[in-house]
Amino acid sequence: MEINQKSALDSETEYTELMIPSYANFGGKIHGGILLSLMDKVAFICASKHSGQYCVTVAVEGVEFKQAVEVGELVTIKASVIFVGKTTMIVGMRVESFKPTEGIIRHTNSCYFTMAAKDSEGNLAVVPGLILKTDEQLRRYCKGKIIRKLSLEKRELLKSAVKDQLIQDLRQECQEVDKCFIA
Ligand SMILES: CC(C)(COP(=O)(O)OP(=O)(O)OC[C@H]1O[C@@H](n2cnc3c(N)ncnc32)[C@H](O)[C@@H]1OP(=O)(O)O)[C@@H](O)C(=O)NCCC(=O)NCCS
Repeated sequence: MEINQKSALDSETEYTELMIPSYANFGGKIHGGILLSLMDKVAFICASKHSGQYCVTVAVEGVEFKQAVEVGELVTIKASVIFVGKTTMIVGMRVESFKPTEGIIRHTNSCYFTMAAKDSEGNLAVVPGLILKTDEQLRRYCKGKIIRKLSLEKRELLKSAVKDQLIQDLRQECQEVDKCFIA
């Protein structure tokens, strides 16, 4: 049986966009939602390159905005598929912002998106395995494995933890330690 595999390099993507005034928020900085939309676009590009299928966003596993982005800067997203499951892929992205007048590149944020591959009928499709050729790709893969594990644990915890607890226990727990006021 032929095993379908692709190199991490095959999905590598670099996408640059100029931050125009209509992308700014009331504070004059670039709106976080604009960056999320760009990241979603890039995640789709990487996932469809790897899977050869139409892809959908399943989850934003983590976004950290380290620094604000300004109007007039060039935002570059460097990304690739870093981990594959059966039908899903985790795309890792590094976002950098470049101010042409100063020549400085800043690392503004990093993020991980889980994308699923779908066939022409809209069913989940099995994705190719991932060939890792460098130590860096191996490191990213292992990070992806942790992200997948945490994502599954989070989902399970959210499903069961609160539902199965008695309301009086929840009330007591919240009143004792949290800054909430139960009326
Ligand atoms: C997300 C989706 C694919 C899950 O389908 P499902 O049949 O309920 O999922 P399953 O439990 O069989 O899991 C299928 C895969 O999705 C992953 N998955 C499911 N829910 C997930 C979540 N909340 N976060 C991360 N991964 C998730 C599973 O780990 C599994 O991965 P694997 O095949 O690589 O091991 C499906 O609900 C879907 O298509 N959602 C709509 C996505 C979409 O349209 N996005 C665009 C938003 S506008």
